[in-house]
This record gives sequence, C-alpha cells and structure tokens, in this order.
Amino acid sequence: MNLSPRLEQVALLVPEGSIAADIGSDHALLSVYLVKKGICPRVIAGEINEKPYLLASSQVQKSGLADYIQVRWGDGLKVLAPGEADVVILAGMGGRTIRKILCDCPGVTESVCRFILQPMTEAGELRLWLSRHYFRISAEALVEEKGRFYEVIVAEHGLEDASTEVTLTLGPRLVADRHPLLPEHLNILIERERAILAQMEGKAGLSTENWERMREIKTRLARLEGIRECL
Ligand SMILES: C[S@@+](CC[C@H](N)C(=O)[O-])C[C@H]1O[C@@H](n2cnc3c(N)ncnc32)[C@H](O)[C@@H]1O
Repeated sequence: MNLSPRLEQVALLVPEGSIAADIGSDHALLSVYLVKKGICPRVIAGEINEKPYLLASSQVQKSGLADYIQVRWGDGLKVLAPGEADVVILAGMGGRTIRKILCDCPGVTESVCRFILQPMTEAGELRLWLSRHYFRISAEALVEEKGRFYEVIVAEHGLEDASTEVTLTLGPRLVADRHPLLPEHLNILIERERAILAQMEGKAGLSTENWERMREIKTRLARLEGIRECL
C-alpha cells in the first residue's frame, strides 16, 4: 500500500518495534501501514469524530488487521492509559490542537517516549512551546507534497538547550542540517505572514484581539526575515 509523501515521512520516524498511537487517525491509513510494514506490532488509532472513527474502523476490518489495530473513539490522549503507547503520532492537525492534546492528559503525556508531530499550522509556535515545556526536538523533517511543505517534528522529554528562539521558529534540526528545502520553505512562510498582515492592516478599527494577533505576526515575520539573512 502507498502512503502520501507526508505520511510516509511520519512513518519513517516511528521506531521499529514500538507500540504507536495514531491520534486523529481519520482513515487509519497510517495505522494500517505501520502494522503491514512490520514497523509496529500494535497500533491504537484514536478519533474524536464519529464519521472518521467509523471510517477508521471499517478500514481496519478491511485490512484484516483488527487483532493488531484497535480503533478508539475519544478526545486526544484520553483514549490511552499511561504506558500503553511508546510513540504518539499527532499528524494533520493545527499546532494549537496538538498543544492542547499534549496538555490535556499529563499522565499519558509523561509516559510516552516519543511524539511525532506534524502540525498543519503554527509549527514555529509549537516548537517554542515544546522547548518551554521540557521537550527537546530530537529530529525533524520537511517534505513537499503537491507544492505544499509539511513539517514533521519529533519531540522527546528533555531540555532543548542548543536552540535559539529564532531557530526554533523554523526548526532547529532543519537549520542545523541545512535542509535543502529550507530556503524555499522560508520564502513561502514569509510571504504568507506578509499577506495576512497586509489584510489586517487594511482593516479600519482593529479589535484588541486582532491588534494582539497583528503584533504576534509582526514578531514572527521579523524573526523569519532575520533567519533568511543568515542562511
Ligand atoms: C486532517 S485529519 C488528519 C488525518 C491523519 N492523521 C493524517 O495526517 O492524514 C485530522 C483528524 O484529527 C481528528 N481530530 C481533531 N481533533 C482531535 C482530537 N482532539 N482527538 C482525536 N482526534 C482529533 C479529526 O477528526 C480528523 O479526522
């Protein structure tokens, strides 16, 4: 079976022999792949919404792997007991949702050795948050799929002491490895922030909330432009 380049990259970061939990599994394609390829002996697929939960359940039945993949219906890590999974995958969700899921079940979060995070938004903010909450970024990947760049972050418990705030915004391991896709990715991020800012600046009478957001964007933009100077 074939996965998209994004999910294939996520699968590459799952250690062989580990018990994984694929939270927000949707179709459960990744869960099925991990077992079929012999990467994981068992996987727990978690879903909060009924439709994808049913989709995941039928996908697992169809694959004949129901003895190895358990599909559970529930919010984030609440579907897990502490110690049940070595690795937790949170892919295809917003950075804020990922953060919330990590915070909501401290007992489970503490018991997991490795988190493979693939945020669709706010990857920089997520890395900063991780570094302030005793997570170190042990590996990273950047993958292009259909003209869009996806960041994959591996977080483990520990001190992220070598990274500055600026490199955390972009990805400390990506910067250290001088990832070949980094300059192009950086340009896209800068253009996206500029476009949002221009749209906000065009509006009369900003609310306090939007003003705060605008200032956050300006900070992020200045950081990214600073990194571009150094690459
Ligand atoms: C865009 S899909 C990504 C599916 C798959 N992980 C991937 O990367 O292709 C996001 C999935 O996460 C689920 N989801 C969102 N918040 C969740 C939460 N708090 N707990 C469990 N699942 C959640 C959604 O229902 C949706 O199916």
